[in-house]
Amino acid sequence: MDATPAAAQPTPPRVATGPRGLLLLGVALDIRKDILGWLLRTTEHGPLACYRYGPLLSYQVNHPDGLKHLLQDHVKNYTKDHFGYDMIRRIVGNGIFTSEGETWLKQRRLAQPAFHRARISAMAGQMVQATAELSEQWTASQRSGEPRSVVRDMMALTLRVVGEALLGTNVREETQAIAEAFTVISEQTTERFRSFRLLPPVLPTAYDRAFRQANQTLRDVVARIITKRRERPEDHGDLLSMFMLAKDEETGEQMDDEHLRDEVLTMLLAGHETTANTLSWVWGLLHQNPDAERKLHAELDAVLGGRPPTAEDVPKLVYTRRVMDEALRLYPPVYSLSRKVVKDDVICGYEVRGGSSLYMSPYVTHRLPEFWPDPERFEPDRFTPEQVAARPRYAYFPFLGGPRQCIGNNFAWMEGTLIIATLAQHHRPRMVEGYTLTPEPLLTLKPAGELPVRITAR
Ligand code: HEM
Repeated sequence: MDATPAAAQPTPPRVATGPRGLLLLGVALDIRKDILGWLLRTTEHGPLACYRYGPLLSYQVNHPDGLKHLLQDHVKNYTKDHFGYDMIRRIVGNGIFTSEGETWLKQRRLAQPAFHRARISAMAGQMVQATAELSEQWTASQRSGEPRSVVRDMMALTLRVVGEALLGTNVREETQAIAEAFTVISEQTTERFRSFRLLPPVLPTAYDRAFRQANQTLRDVVARIITKRRERPEDHGDLLSMFMLAKDEETGEQMDDEHLRDEVLTMLLAGHETTANTLSWVWGLLHQNPDAERKLHAELDAVLGGRPPTAEDVPKLVYTRRVMDEALRLYPPVYSLSRKVVKDDVICGYEVRGGSSLYMSPYVTHRLPEFWPDPERFEPDRFTPEQVAARPRYAYFPFLGGPRQCIGNNFAWMEGTLIIATLAQHHRPRMVEGYTLTPEPLLTLKPAGELPVRITAR
């Protein structure tokens, strides 16, 4: 006889509900129409929602407790063996971003020292120098009154920084080609995902050919970076040298050419688009929020008094960092992420089936009113130490968390803070009349229409 009292029996997991879709397509059409609106509506179903994307059983986990479970506590049960990542693999191959298991761990350990705080601090001078050159261009535009695209400026700047600081290379001349290639890839990958077009781009159509060409452009850039370094193969003390000189502890083998290309391409792409979008949002949001802009200027005047910032200033630029935090909250560049569920599990009391797809969205979790009152309001002081401590860890996760947390997050903080501080001391970009700041959800979340501005003086 079972002596356990009925009250002590474990409660069976509940079955999650979710948005209903069409018979064969599931919710695919709704997602295609307005992915951000659709994602927000999944919160109506509790901490996680269950639905069908095409024929695939899928879950959207929105609550911080569920995110902690899958990103940290039970992370091995949630892998990148997902068709979303298969699409990313077409672009960056099997590098640190897309690999799993031992291959991933080896690469992560190899790359980690390049992102050590002291190493990043040493890159501050390069970051500020590159920004000062953009500042000169902004001064010229200030005088001429001609409009500029903030998105393009931030892309070129962050691409240059990641190229110089991590790969010891100047990609200035290739910036335009990289930007154009990446736009094709980003638009097509988003389109293919949303229209459930899972076949690789191998057909002789103009559409598939454009993808292949764009991919080839990126590979050519990376091949040039590697060839140039091979001409001077000594240790340059940067990430590229780490990749090129590393030897397997057991076999003594070095990375083959294909693997090296994948890793370099991963860093080049992951290391610039996201930061550029974040900074673009910062300029648009500062224009819309004069109080925050005034506070930012007051801090810059007090800490820097007109001189260029250094790595030592960064911890003192507290409000500057909060501005970036708040931009990352409202418009996290990586706004949707996927995983495959390996085995049956329970998240926040709900069953999650092995073999299904699972999605998370910082864009949604960062707007849950229980953690973020008046969520659409731009308010950098949500990030005071007291307020941060009062929220669960995964109420805010623009860089993810757990073992697969962004390896470049400290790099991005240093870079972002220095760029904002350098430019905001002298310039106030104003969005041109008639432009409305809205998100465009492609591979990353960017301001639509390239964010045209006129540069005005402070
Ligand atoms: C504001 C800027 C950035 C944001 C919001 C961001 C966000 C993220 C997120 C959410 C992930 C997890 C992706 C996933 O699991 O699918 C990630 C991973 C990654 N990020 Fe970033 N990132 C930023 C800047 C950078 C920079 C500057 C670099 C390199 C210089 C970088 C390199 C990477 C790499 C290599 C990974 C894969 C790490 C792994 O799986 O071990 N990121 N990033």
